[in-house]
Amino acid sequence: MKSAHIIIGQSDLAAMELGADVLRNDGFNVHLVTTGERILEHLKQPVLPDLVVVDNSLKSPTALELCRMVKSNPLLRSIPVVMLVPADSAPDNQAALEAGCDDLLVQPVNPHVLSARIQSLLRIKFLVEDLDDTESVLYTLTRIIEAKDSYTMGHADRVARYAIELGKALGVSGDDIESLRKGGMLHDIGKIAIPDPILTKPGKYTPEEFDIMKQHPGLGCEICKKLRSVRDALPLIKHHHEKLDGSGYPDGLAGGQIPTLVRIITIVDIYDALRSRRSYKEAFSLDTSFEVLWEEAKKGWWDKTVLSAWEKFVRQTENGSSSRGGGL
Ligand SMILES: [Fe+2]
Repeated sequence: MKSAHIIIGQSDLAAMELGADVLRNDGFNVHLVTTGERILEHLKQPVLPDLVVVDNSLKSPTALELCRMVKSNPLLRSIPVVMLVPADSAPDNQAALEAGCDDLLVQPVNPHVLSARIQSLLRIKFLVEDLDDTESVLYTLTRIIEAKDSYTMGHADRVARYAIELGKALGVSGDDIESLRKGGMLHDIGKIAIPDPILTKPGKYTPEEFDIMKQHPGLGCEICKKLRSVRDALPLIKHHHEKLDGSGYPDGLAGGQIPTLVRIITIVDIYDALRSRRSYKEAFSLDTSFEVLWEEAKKGWWDKTVLSAWEKFVRQTENGSSSRGGGL
């Protein structure tokens, strides 16, 4: 926190000197600039600023334009933007908030208030980054599991991508799309706790081995349940091997007990497994894969509406190339 880099854009440099001194005394690295262009230059550097303060007198780009640029760029949007506004600027304030501005301070700004606001915004930013780091560790674990078995390489990424496509085709939106992405990436993370000889065994499992393998959804849920940012994906991790007729695992959920998002993950997980080469089988063709899925749907395992939407999407998008290494 103390060594955080703050860019302050203020056309009247003298007006910010006192504020900059207070911030420096509080331990921040402060860079004062007088134009919007100079702020843009800082935002193109390999080491990005931790927070940007913009005065609304800035021109080309204006403070509002800068704010929109930062908040619409996935690489920059986590940088808090504080806008300094004159008193009685209510319409501009509304536009600033709509542009994604994180805080508005009316000028003249008390430097100690500015410092306190900056510290508050940075605490949130660094907490979110910690969460992102933790998620990244989980995704790395997923890739470690896949690396143990070359046949499953890229499976989690594909399941996440397919789940999002299928979700959108079914009208899923907003936070649920994010849950599909996280659930797709992490659905098999519990395999990290499955012994390697079972995890990488070519051919079919013995009943005893299969009982151990069946623990991976529950183990995955245990690994992820303390992490608030993936909380909404927990049902997808725990239940991606359930079947509508109740014959799946780990809980034998049936029918309406299985949420739509879980049904989506289940279909695309199996689809990818069918379309991929595994130690015990070659990659199935598109037609054969859907034949298998429809047979199983008729047995009462899968949601026919979800499967139908996936087949429609896949056939419209692809002409049947193998899914290993990309595509559908
Ligand atoms: Fe699984």
